[in-house]
Amino acid sequence: MCGIVGYAGYRQAYPILLESLKRLEYRGYDSAGVAIVGSGITVQKDKGYISQLEETAEAVPGTLGIAHTRWATHGPPSKENAHPHIDCTGDLALIHNGIIENHQPLRDRLKGEGHVFRSETDTEVAAHLIESLYHGDLEGAVREALHEIRGSYAFAVIHSKEPDKVVAARNESPLVVGLGTDENFLASDIPALLKHTNRVLYVMDGEIVVLGRDSVRITDYEGKPIAREPQRITWTLEDAEKGGFEHFMLKEIFEEPQAIHDTLLGRVAEPELNSFFREGYTGVKLVACGTSYHAALVGKYVLEEIARIPTTAELASEYRYSKAPADRPLVILLSQSGETADTLGACREANRRGCKTFAIANVIGSSLSREAQRTMLTRAGIEIGVAATKTFVAQLAALYLLAIRIGLERATLGVEEANRLNEDLRRLPRAVQAVLNQAPYIEGLAQEYAKARDVFFIGRHLGYPIAMEGALKLKEISYVHAEAYAAGELKHGPLALVGSDTPVVAIVTRDHTYDKMLSNIREVDARGAPVLAIGTEGDKDLGKIVDNVIYVPAVPPLFAPVPVVVALQLFAYHVARVRGCAIDKPRNLAKSVTVE
Ligand code: M6R
Repeated sequence: MCGIVGYAGYRQAYPILLESLKRLEYRGYDSAGVAIVGSGITVQKDKGYISQLEETAEAVPGTLGIAHTRWATHGPPSKENAHPHIDCTGDLALIHNGIIENHQPLRDRLKGEGHVFRSETDTEVAAHLIESLYHGDLEGAVREALHEIRGSYAFAVIHSKEPDKVVAARNESPLVVGLGTDENFLASDIPALLKHTNRVLYVMDGEIVVLGRDSVRITDYEGKPIAREPQRITWTLEDAEKGGFEHFMLKEIFEEPQAIHDTLLGRVAEPELNSFFREGYTGVKLVACGTSYHAALVGKYVLEEIARIPTTAELASEYRYSKAPADRPLVILLSQSGETADTLGACREANRRGCKTFAIANVIGSSLSREAQRTMLTRAGIEIGVAATKTFVAQLAALYLLAIRIGLERATLGVEEANRLNEDLRRLPRAVQAVLNQAPYIEGLAQEYAKARDVFFIGRHLGYPIAMEGALKLKEISYVHAEAYAAGELKHGPLALVGSDTPVVAIVTRDHTYDKMLSNIREVDARGAPVLAIGTEGDKDLGKIVDNVIYVPAVPPLFAPVPVVVALQLFAYHVARVRGCAIDKPRNLAKSVTVE
């Protein structure tokens, strides 16, 4: 996730662009850059926050330009990898938010044609591709290039030979036009526009915009004009930064379909990673903290089932004190931030023990991604709410991908089966969306449960780590005491605590543990506990034996943790909201825990 802005008007572009860009810093802040059309194009960029760019850049004159704040996905944060990227001639500058899936073959081809690349980014291929198609018509060249580019993107491009326009395009990444008088604006998101205008045009997938000082033209990829009525935005700036959601946490939950989609994008074949998993270990150890640890627990089942490899999950804070086993496992470290001190310590320890280390992290260039031997990025974008939500489902997506990869590499999984699993994976964003559509219903349910002092979460097999995650979400943001139990363990102790004032949230999706879960529900029901079940769509019988049900779409059992956890995140969010808690910044907690 990056932030892009553009301006075409009568005022000096530089201060407008930088000021607007700062409003998008929540979308990424590892490097920033600006390009202004004056006499030629001047590009200035730097690593770090926008304030760093302001210190090093000059306010060059010009009334048209583009600017970018980056959240790295391809190539670490650096001045070279910062946007805008230019073509070989320096006449064209381009900014991009998203991921170009087929960047490698395009790069290879363009290099073969003599183009010289200056960065490691996927974005730079677009600059050279458009250059190769440019014959005096920027809009036409962009249109042609888009027929070749696969992936998600919002682009904005300028050319010194056409100094009166910004050409932009969108596919699966946000883009909005702001309409002014004798000036027009372009941005990834509304906050960047609000200081100047509240009249906006939303650009849709598959559309190209040509932005001029006194005109905005939208066409499809074939050049057919598209008419669109402007909308008037009534949000305050603060509302706008949260995309109109009351809290970042809710916004981030609603970004989950995109987070999964982006994490999977172009990942089916990454040959150099493949060979990494081929040999040199007999088992896998997943190591993490907090929510990432819950992803690791799910990963244990997933790796064992898909890749048929013995797997354990361990808390990073404990791993460091365990004895090194004689055989060296592949150690997979999971961390949203990539800066968690315990996880970093575990990575160092695993390296010291001579293990292969692999990180799943959300922040490129983070310490963990540098210290592990290889890294897979979850491409969830910045997560601001302290409670991990979209990064958790992105971690699960990464683990499914990894399990398929390891299974194929070690020949414990056939190609046909892998293709089927990949298809199931691709359907997950839709299943998540179906749960999000039930948010109003879940909000209603939360009213009923918000007064509880203690809540128990129960599940079996894959439902158990998800019960743990549901309990963690509830306790950290609503301060309700919540505990998760493997449902089979209830009668070995915890049942003594269950009564009419202790609601039980039970995960009862359709899998091989279903009947046993029903028995456990009867046990708590017999003690008078109100039961909220998370069940599979169409399971009418479940509704007859519990007080409330949140139904999630039927997906293959191995993938059920994804839709189920979304329901639990929404439940925790709404309970916390009813209780008036500081949802995005819960007491005593920090987003990144850099102390042991
Ligand atoms: O950045 P990490 O994934 O390494 O963070 C680990 C935990 O601190 C984190 O998951 C924490 O438990 C979350 N706030 C839970 O929502």
